[in-house]
Amino acid sequence: MIFSEELKRRADFAESVLKSYLPEEKGYEVRVAEAMNYSALSGGKHLRPVIMYAVYQMYGGKEQVVEPFMAALEMIHNYSLVHDDLPAMDNDMYRRGRKTTHAVYGPGMATLAGDGLLNLAYETALKAFSVEKGQTTTESIIKALKILSDKAGINGMLGGQSADVDAEERNRKLDLQELLYIHEKKTACLLESALMIGGCLCNVSDEELKKLEDIGHYVGVAFQIEDDILDVTGDEKILGKHVGSDAENGKVTYVTLKGIEHAKKDASDMTESALAIMDKLPESDGFLRELVISLVTRQK
Ligand code: IPE
Ligand code: IPE
Ligand code: MG
Ligand code: MG
Ligand code: MG
Repeated sequence: MIFSEELKRRADFAESVLKSYLPEEKGYEVRVAEAMNYSALSGGKHLRPVIMYAVYQMYGGKEQVVEPFMAALEMIHNYSLVHDDLPAMDNDMYRRGRKTTHAVYGPGMATLAGDGLLNLAYETALKAFSVEKGQTTTESIIKALKILSDKAGINGMLGGQSADVDAEERNRKLDLQELLYIHEKKTACLLESALMIGGCLCNVSDEELKKLEDIGHYVGVAFQIEDDILDVTGDEKILGKHVGSDAENGKVTYVTLKGIEHAKKDASDMTESALAIMDKLPESDGFLRELVISLVTRQK
């Protein structure tokens, strides 16, 4: 297996699944549908659905039931980015090498496109009840819906984003403990849900789900530390986002608190912690392992 080729193949699959659930561009709501599609199909890495599918397969899942969840999680991720880039939040004009949704469609339509993606995520996830389920029980689908909604909401990604915005707007100087809380919530929670839903749809035990959650925690916090590093050291052409955005917004990041070298070391230690838990899973998946390792050396 050549990792980069395998990753591309799996990301293409995730994108085709996502595409199949995105809205038609028609009617008086054509503009919001265009904005939703613009943001969802713009060259993202599709890491979360790729991870969800790898975990689902690792536990022997073979059915379509995972697909609505893959699309739903990617929609929630994209909504979070559309709103994150708004002038009222990070005010970013570029993402994935092209203009952000508000830069093309205006802030009002971008707000609605984000709302539309969030709502469509749940409309889509509910479709899991009406596709091929294989071994997946109805209880497991309900549990997966609960994981999806909890990890996206006030106790998850949205809670983290709100603490992040609050710190910026009220110019509060964060300490490491609060910054770690923000990183875990705003970024790790969706990654945790990717791993957990993959396992949940194979009816794994709560003990196993906890291990998947812990892996997602370490991978997610390391991922956000790396994102903070790339905001300083990244190459704009490769990263596809404006470098220096955090500094312009006066943000406290992992880099401002601990410096680049320490940040790198902590991200790599957290990756090791994730891999150590992975070793304790009854199943193993070489692709997933390589993917987790690749995230700390990524350039975008
Ligand atoms: C960007 O996530 C936002 C963070 C959580 C740091 P990704 O780097 O996964 O974004 P895309 O979807 O690949 O552009
Ligand atoms: C935001 O973190 C993560 C989200 C939950 C949207 P950042 O604001 O650092 O993400 P980027 O750098 O804009 O992708
Ligand atoms: Mg932000
Ligand atoms: Mg941002
Ligand atoms: Mg960032």
